Amino acid sequence: MMTVLRISMFIFLITVLVAFILMKIVRWYFFRTRRMRLLQDLNIPGPRPHFIFGHMKEYNSTPNVIWDSEMIDKYGPICGYYIGAKPVILIADPNLANQIRNFEERPRRVPGGINPDPMRAKMLGNLSVEKWKRLRAILNKSFSSNMIKSFTPTVARIVDQELMDAIRAQHSAEVNIYPLLQNFTFELISQTGFGVHANFSGNSDLRAAVEEEFSKNASNSWLTQLFLCFPDMTILQRIRIWHQWMKIKLGTSKSTELRNFCESVQQERLRSRSRSRDILQVMLDSEIQDDDEKVLANSILFYEAAFETLSAGLAFTIHLLTNNEQAQRIVRDEIRGHLQENEGRICADRISNLKYLDLVIKESLRMYPPQTTFISRSGERDLDYKNEDGQIHTIPKGVHLQICLYQMHHSSKFWDNPEMFRPDRHLDEQKHPDYDVVFQPFGKGKRRCIGYSYAKFVMPFVLATILSQYTFSQSPKTEETIEVLFKTATMTPKNGCFAEINFDPIAF
Ligand code: HEM
Ligand SMILES: *[C@@H]1O[C@H](CO)[C@@H](O)[C@H](O)[C@H]1NC(C)=O
Ligand SMILES: *[C@@H]1O[C@H](CO)[C@@H](O)[C@H](O)[C@H]1NC(C)=O
Ligand SMILES: *[C@@H]1O[C@H](CO)[C@@H](O)[C@H](O)[C@H]1NC(C)=O
Ligand SMILES: *[C@@H]1O[C@H](CO)[C@@H](O)[C@H](O)[C@H]1NC(C)=O
Ligand SMILES: *[C@@H]1O[C@H](CO)[C@@H](O)[C@H](O)[C@H]1NC(C)=O
Repeated sequence: MMTVLRISMFIFLITVLVAFILMKIVRWYFFRTRRMRLLQDLNIPGPRPHFIFGHMKEYNSTPNVIWDSEMIDKYGPICGYYIGAKPVILIADPNLANQIRNFEERPRRVPGGINPDPMRAKMLGNLSVEKWKRLRAILNKSFSSNMIKSFTPTVARIVDQELMDAIRAQHSAEVNIYPLLQNFTFELISQTGFGVHANFSGNSDLRAAVEEEFSKNASNSWLTQLFLCFPDMTILQRIRIWHQWMKIKLGTSKSTELRNFCESVQQERLRSRSRSRDILQVMLDSEIQDDDEKVLANSILFYEAAFETLSAGLAFTIHLLTNNEQAQRIVRDEIRGHLQENEGRICADRISNLKYLDLVIKESLRMYPPQTTFISRSGERDLDYKNEDGQIHTIPKGVHLQICLYQMHHSSKFWDNPEMFRPDRHLDEQKHPDYDVVFQPFGKGKRRCIGYSYAKFVMPFVLATILSQYTFSQSPKTEETIEVLFKTATMTPKNGCFAEINFDPIAF
């Protein structure tokens, strides 16, 4: 009697358990089905997703910019796909891109980030609206025009000491200028932003750290891929964070090097109680001073963001000038005039008078925008928009919207012969009516690149200084069209940037 009762009790419990699990599965199946139909229900064209992987497999086997281009070519300027279970809407349509420019929330392709180090969640680029607003207002001070002005003597000194000396040591030979520019850029951000000499060229670990961070992508990590397929299983995110933490503690993550470096810079500043006029001081004087980790995270962000973009942007521009003698000659003529007017110096305050150089830089940033996939937004509200055929569509709030700047920069809809280097196309009279949207290397709206004014000053200043003394000509290894490496968020010269550098100071 007792045993029978026990057995039926047991069967009953098992049945309840099985029913419970079945219910969970049915529920999950129901939600997953709805989720994987989202783009279809919104009438956003795109390939049919796999129920579990979305388009993860195809996406991970193609460099992301190329994948995005393929999608847009096939499905049009507003289309979408799924990274695991995460829907992404690509926007290469100026009208819609313009409508979302002032959305403030930046979603992450990988929830929690490619590098799940919790410290990185405190970076400006990753914060959600309210926290972002406060921090952006603080960090903005680091890039005010007064601040940029006060950086000028330092920039001039570093150009001279770190860059011109390195070029002098190598001129008249075939030179790969890209590593030289990388080393210089790191010193530049270090000394203007943090007041310290980094000795980057003597520290290959630091270099490896920065490079590792940018070469990270979801396809390197099965854990990240699993998480993308099952984003609701928060346990996976906890495992990812723990895994990253272990890597840091065991010293197997190269990125620790940059973290340690920034930490020591911060500690030294606090210990010595010295002050200086730089980005670090702006943070230490603000309300975030009590949050050491926040100061650290954003120091790292500035090093990384400035290093990768400025060095690639300068290298791409030099590549274009090397292959375009005529443009180089016009730039040098313009610099001659500038030297005549300014007692033989490149005058930082008047750098924006170099109009043709400005067109050249713009054209370089159009063809080779160093940041490729970082302009993303998600709406704080649903958005109705009219598409090309006049129909009204709705994009619900919270969906990942990706502004495809690279594709707009290269679309023959907006540019004649987009693959041709033609600086004049940025002249007012030749601009496309939607120029403001179809050309946006720094992004647009409230979340535009915070380093915009810094880059706008540094790029022409560096180029004018070099070109006032040297010319670049093609050498055996100069590529006709530079080969690029598309990384998760950036693009860089794949094989470097080769040219012959000739000493040929401008006589004025
Ligand atoms: C040629 C140089 C550069 C290019 C092409 C570039 C490009 C971009 C782009 C496209 C964005 C996204 C903007 C958006 O979502 O609308 C961005 C954001 C950002 N950039 Fe730059 N950038 C450059 C230089 C710099 C420099 C020098 C720094 C720092 C010193 C910097 C720091 C940042 C930061 C922190 C963000 C995130 C801003 C936020 O979310 O509020 N960038 N950049
Ligand atoms: C991801 O990174 C690895 C190594 O850094 C690279 O070989 C691979 O091509 C990258 N994948 C994509 C899709 O960019
Ligand atoms: C924050 O953003 C950066 C740059 O896009 C990315 O590499 C990192 O993985 C993100 N981290 C987190 C925690 O979101
Ligand atoms: C930061 O500065 C930019 C101009 O460089 C401005 O458009 C933006 O509104 C400022 N953001 C905040 C939050 O103060
Ligand atoms: C740049 O720095 C790296 C170390 O970070 C060094 O190995 C390399 O020789 C330097 N290159 C040049 C051209 O100065
Ligand atoms: C830079 O690093 C190199 C190699 O580690 C070292 O020999 C040199 O003394 C360092 N220079 C400075 C100024 O710290």
